[in-house]
Amino acid sequence: MATADYKQISAIARKRRAANIAAYYKTPTWNEADLPRNLTEFALKSGYYTDDELAIIQSEADVILDKIKTKAWTALRVTQAFCKASALAQELTNCLTEVLYAEAFERAKYLDDYLARTGRTIGPLHGLPISLKDCFITAPHPSSIGMAAYANEPLQKDTLLVTILRDLGAVFYVKTNVPTAMMMAETNNNIWGECRNALHKGLSPGGSSGGEGALIAFKASPLGVGTDIGGSIRIPAAWSYMYGLKPSFGRYPVYGGKSGIPGQEHILAVNGPMSRSLKSLQIYSEAVLSENVAPWEVDHKLLPIPWRKNVIQPPGRKLRIGIIGIDDGLTTVHPPVERAINMTRAALEKAGHDVFTWSASEDHPAIVKNIQAAFFDLGAAAITDLLKPYDEPFFPSMEGYGIAAAAGEGGIGPTKMRLMNLKRNELQKAYLDRWNATAADGKPRMDAIICACSPWAAPRLGQTQENFYVGWTGFVNYLDFPACTFPVTLADKTLDKPRDKASFNQLSDIDGRIQADYDADFYHGAPVALQVVGKRLEEEKVLEMTQIVADALKAAS
Ligand SMILES: *[C@@H]1O[C@H](CO)[C@@H](O)[C@H](O)[C@H]1NC(C)=O
Ligand SMILES: *[C@@H]1O[C@H](CO)[C@@H](O)[C@H](O)[C@H]1NC(C)=O
Ligand SMILES: *[C@@H]1O[C@H](CO)[C@@H](O)[C@H](O)[C@H]1NC(C)=O
Repeated sequence: MATADYKQISAIARKRRAANIAAYYKTPTWNEADLPRNLTEFALKSGYYTDDELAIIQSEADVILDKIKTKAWTALRVTQAFCKASALAQELTNCLTEVLYAEAFERAKYLDDYLARTGRTIGPLHGLPISLKDCFITAPHPSSIGMAAYANEPLQKDTLLVTILRDLGAVFYVKTNVPTAMMMAETNNNIWGECRNALHKGLSPGGSSGGEGALIAFKASPLGVGTDIGGSIRIPAAWSYMYGLKPSFGRYPVYGGKSGIPGQEHILAVNGPMSRSLKSLQIYSEAVLSENVAPWEVDHKLLPIPWRKNVIQPPGRKLRIGIIGIDDGLTTVHPPVERAINMTRAALEKAGHDVFTWSASEDHPAIVKNIQAAFFDLGAAAITDLLKPYDEPFFPSMEGYGIAAAAGEGGIGPTKMRLMNLKRNELQKAYLDRWNATAADGKPRMDAIICACSPWAAPRLGQTQENFYVGWTGFVNYLDFPACTFPVTLADKTLDKPRDKASFNQLSDIDGRIQADYDADFYHGAPVALQVVGKRLEEEKVLEMTQIVADALKAAS
């Protein structure tokens, strides 16, 4: 039985976080009412940073790595700048969990000494600060994943990916906030509290890698690592206007992290990089999946496929892309997302690519219903058993876990499990066949799907509690496809008028509620990003295609 309730546990965790920050940085405080919407801009102009720090935190990973390698910057200076930024990001957005400044400085100094002594970098990520979602274990720090049961529990063994990244030269300095058990579409929990969007304080940074999204958008991290089982990398990446790669299972090492539903393998959880720069995702992937690291030698779940370059052949060939329109059969996107879809379609056509409409209404609804039911059924006992002893209440969007547990779905049984797997396999095969069938009438097979990441541009805080919907990202997890988000535009009250209520035909109850929430004034400035979806194990192609799409959007603007 638990000896403390979650409130006492939370107080201990928050005190530790505050003390670890206060040991190095004193952040200014402001009246909430005086803060503008855009917290990132506010911070950059606040006078908190020196010019030197501003130059560092606004640089992307390739520049940072180069400046450290050529000794223009020390790893220590770079680390200090990002630690200082993260302290303010915490103050303004509540994006952090564990604070690792002391060991980050020590590691950065070691790397600087190593470079001075040997004239060589330790690896391709030498000196790069990388932020980690809370589920990655950096022993001895706890990995709460937003639950009292784990919040103050010291851990002994690093997650495999953490060891790999450290050996490549990365510096870990913070871990970032997540929702309870990492199973909500926004970042809130009973231990650390709610995280908000750095680019618009009334909006959610999404979840479950929401702390990453806020921290990176705040320019307090050049690169972070998130995890994704239903959209947990792509939802926060999209809502904070950045690139986020959700790979298929079997490429990036997954061994030894904390999981929200341990042992659940019906929908496979994966991890991947998030950054404002697409190039950073390339650098990260090339480093982690290199022949040198050979992660498949140490993670028994991985396929021995080293990172491949220039996979789109011949170079410069035109792509064939299926774009999903404004609905997926269950929900309709908000007007700013519709405009982003149109902008992307027009930009690709202008660049000479073959673009056509890919329908989602026949197969996506079944996929979405299955994945949402699977989470509740498979997570019911796992999550309820951890929350109950500490009297932790469920957030509204997670009540399905409690309901499933009460209904006995925790003991789901082999027959139901088998049938769930059979149904999933059948839908996966049918989707692949539909993809394959695009090679017809003399046209080549479709290269990618482009679609929304959610019905919203980043939605208001709390919106997904009543209207939980991850179908736009979840179908990709169900199919185990890779996908990468890309920023397109910001919501604009003059361009993005609400849909006409009289003629709007709602596809479901949730569709009606989501559309009713749209308010052009409130959402003005909200980030809008879409995603490029490839076929299984096509991570390299997805990143190359995302670059092509980003270039086309830039050329068209
Ligand atoms: C917020 O501020 C940052 C930094 O100045 C800027 O890049 C961004 O475009 C601003 N607005 C939004 C909505 O992202
Ligand atoms: C997007 O394109 C469709 C099809 O051309 C068009 O009907 C619709 O009005 C456009 N929407 C916006 C917001 O531009
Ligand atoms: C896959 O596409 C090819 C055309 O490229 C076609 O010949 C074949 O019948 C298709 N297979 C299935 C199962 O649809």
